[in-house]
Amino acid sequence: MGEVIHVARPYHDLTTPFTIDENGAIAEYIINDPELMPQLAIGATILIKDKRKETTSTEDYSDFWYAGRIVGLKSVAPFNPERTTMLYREDTTMDPSVTLSDIRGPHTHQPMVIQVFLNRELSKLENNPGKYIESSIQRPPSGYSYLYFPEISQSPDSTSPTLADILNVPGEGLDLGMIGFGNKPYGWKGNSYLHYRWDIKNLDNKHVFIVGESGSGKTVLLKNIAYEIKKSDSSNRIILTDVQGDITQILFPDFVPRIIPKDWQPVFTDQQYIEAQKVFGKFRLIVPKTNDESIADVNEIKKLALKSGVDVKSISLRFQDLDLPSNAEYLFRTTSIQAAPLLDDLAEGLHANKEPASISRLLTALSRLLTKNPGSQITVPTSGVSYNRVTFEATRRILNDLQKYFDMDLEALSNDSNPLDAFDFNGTIILYLDHLSQDERFMWEMQLVSWLYQNKKKLKNTYVFFDEAHQIIPAERVAKSGGMGEIFNRLRSNFEKLAREGRKFRLNLILSTQNPQDLHPIVPEQCPTRIIMKINPKNAQYAFLEKELAYVANSFGHGQFWIQSPFNGTPDWIRVHSIAPPLPHTSMEKFRDELEKRANNKS
Ligand SMILES: Nc1ncnc2c1ncn2[C@@H]1O[C@H](COP(=O)(O)OP(=O)(O)OP(=O)(O)O)[C@@H](O)[C@H]1O
Ligand SMILES: [Mg+2]
Repeated sequence: MGEVIHVARPYHDLTTPFTIDENGAIAEYIINDPELMPQLAIGATILIKDKRKETTSTEDYSDFWYAGRIVGLKSVAPFNPERTTMLYREDTTMDPSVTLSDIRGPHTHQPMVIQVFLNRELSKLENNPGKYIESSIQRPPSGYSYLYFPEISQSPDSTSPTLADILNVPGEGLDLGMIGFGNKPYGWKGNSYLHYRWDIKNLDNKHVFIVGESGSGKTVLLKNIAYEIKKSDSSNRIILTDVQGDITQILFPDFVPRIIPKDWQPVFTDQQYIEAQKVFGKFRLIVPKTNDESIADVNEIKKLALKSGVDVKSISLRFQDLDLPSNAEYLFRTTSIQAAPLLDDLAEGLHANKEPASISRLLTALSRLLTKNPGSQITVPTSGVSYNRVTFEATRRILNDLQKYFDMDLEALSNDSNPLDAFDFNGTIILYLDHLSQDERFMWEMQLVSWLYQNKKKLKNTYVFFDEAHQIIPAERVAKSGGMGEIFNRLRSNFEKLAREGRKFRLNLILSTQNPQDLHPIVPEQCPTRIIMKINPKNAQYAFLEKELAYVANSFGHGQFWIQSPFNGTPDWIRVHSIAPPLPHTSMEKFRDELEKRANNKS
C-alpha cells in the first residue's frame, strides 16, 4: 500500500456530541483540505475506524468500523470555526509531519464538514482474517474515531473492510457497470473497477423498475440488460417492446453505429462488436399490421430485417381474443354507453355456442336481431336483456370502425390459435410499436400482458421489457381523467397477477418510465430492484429515492444510475456508471435518415 490514507476527524465538541436517535445515526467529520479526499461526494460509502475497550477491567482496545454514506457536505470558514476545540485535536494514529506537509495554509483551503449517515458496525472475525461481522449501530462514534474512504477491493495488505465488503455486491451476475460515487467510477485511473453485479441466478423476484428522463440512457441500459441476460445464459428468452423504434436498431449492426464510449469507458474492437451480436441468438421481429400499410419506415425495417435473417412476423390482433369486447371501449367513437354491455352480452351468447366473438360474427348477430325485431326495443335472447334499437345501430357502426384495429388478418381468423402465440419463441423478440397510435399501442400491450399471463407456465426464464410503463399502468388520477378507469382497472389487475404469479414461473418484468408520477404505485411495489437514472428530484420521490440522493440523480450523465436491490444483497442505494455496451444505438433521426437512404438506393 505505502500510500497515505487521508482521514477526516470528528467534528463534535462538548456542546454538540454525536447522537443516535429515531432518525438514525448521524455524525460529522472535518477535513482541513478537501482536495486530499477526491472521493468526497454525496452518497459515497465511507468507513469510520474506532476502537472500543475489550472489557471493563482491562485497558485493551480493539478496532472496529462504522460503514455509512455521505449525506451532506459543507464548507466552514477556517477563521471562524463553529466548534473550536475539535479542530485542533491531534490524533495519535496520524503522522503529524505528513499532515503538516500537506497543509497549504489557511489561505488556500477551506475545511469541509462531512455529514454521514451510519448504516452498521463491522468487526474483524478473529479466526477468519479478511472477513468482517456486521451488526447494527450500537453507540455513536467516539472522539478517537476518524473517517476515510475504503479501498475498492481486497489486496494482500488490506487491513480494513473494503468497498466490496461493505456494499456486499455479489461476485457473479449480470455486469451492470462500475461503482463510484463521484463523477467517475472508482478505479478509473488504474482500470481496476468494482463492478455492480446483479446475480439473477440467485434472485427470486427479478422484476425491475427503471426511471429516467428522456435522454438519460434508459434504452441503452435496457439493451445492455437484455444483452447481459442472454450472455449469462443463452436459454433465457427476451421480449422487448419497442415504442420508439430505437430498440429495433440492434438488428442492424452493419449500418447503425455503436455508442461512443466516454473517456474512461472501455472501447470494444470490431471483433467484440460482432461477437456481442451473436449473444442475442435468433431474433424475431413482430410487427403489428395496421390498415395503413404505406408507412415507409416499417416496410423498410421489415425488408432489411428479413434480409439479415431475422424471423419477421406481421400479425393482427383478433377481436375474439379480448377478455371482453368492452376492453376496447376506449376505441369506440360513440357516446352510446349501452354499446359496451351489448357487445359483452352478444359475445357471451357466441361463446355459449362455442363460436368466437370476432367482429364479423358480432356484426352478423347484430344484423340478425335487427331484422327479426322491428320494434324500438330489442332483447338479446341469450341474456334476456333489452336494449334500444339505436344502441344496436350505434354498435354496428362501432364494430365497423373497430376493423381499423382488429381482424386484419383473415387467415388468422380461421385459425385455432391466437396470433400472439408468435411470442412463444426461443430467442430474442422485438415487438415493434413505433408506427402505432397511442390507442393501438395500448391495446397491443394490454393483449400482450393478458397473453403472457395465460401462457406463463410455458414462459420459463423469460424477461419482458415494457418501456413507457406509465402508459399501460397509470396512476389512479391519470386513469380516471382519461375516462378509461374501468379498462385500466382490469389491465392493472391483470398486470398485478402477472407480476405476482409470473415470477413463480420465472417470467420477469423490466419496466421503465420517464414519468414515475403518472405511474401506478403497484409497479415500483412489485419490483424490488429499482434503478434511477437522471431525474428531477420531484419525480424521484415517486421512486422512493432519498432526498439527498435525488439531488445527485438530477445531475447524472448518460448511463449513470442509483440501484437498490435488497435481495441481491444491496438494500442501500449504490451509484453505478454503466459502460457503453458493444451494441448498435443512435438517435432516431439518424436511424430514419439511414432507412430512407437504403429505401431510395434500391428503388
Ligand atoms: N452507458 C452509456 N454510455 C455512454 N453513452 C450513453 C450511455 N447511455 C446513453 N448514452 C448516450 O445517451 C444517449 C441517449 O440515450 P438513450 O437513447 O438510451 O436515452 P433514453 O433515456 O432512452 O431517452 P428517451 O427517453 O428519449 O428514449 C445515447 O444516444 C448515447 O449517446
Ligand atoms: Mg429510449
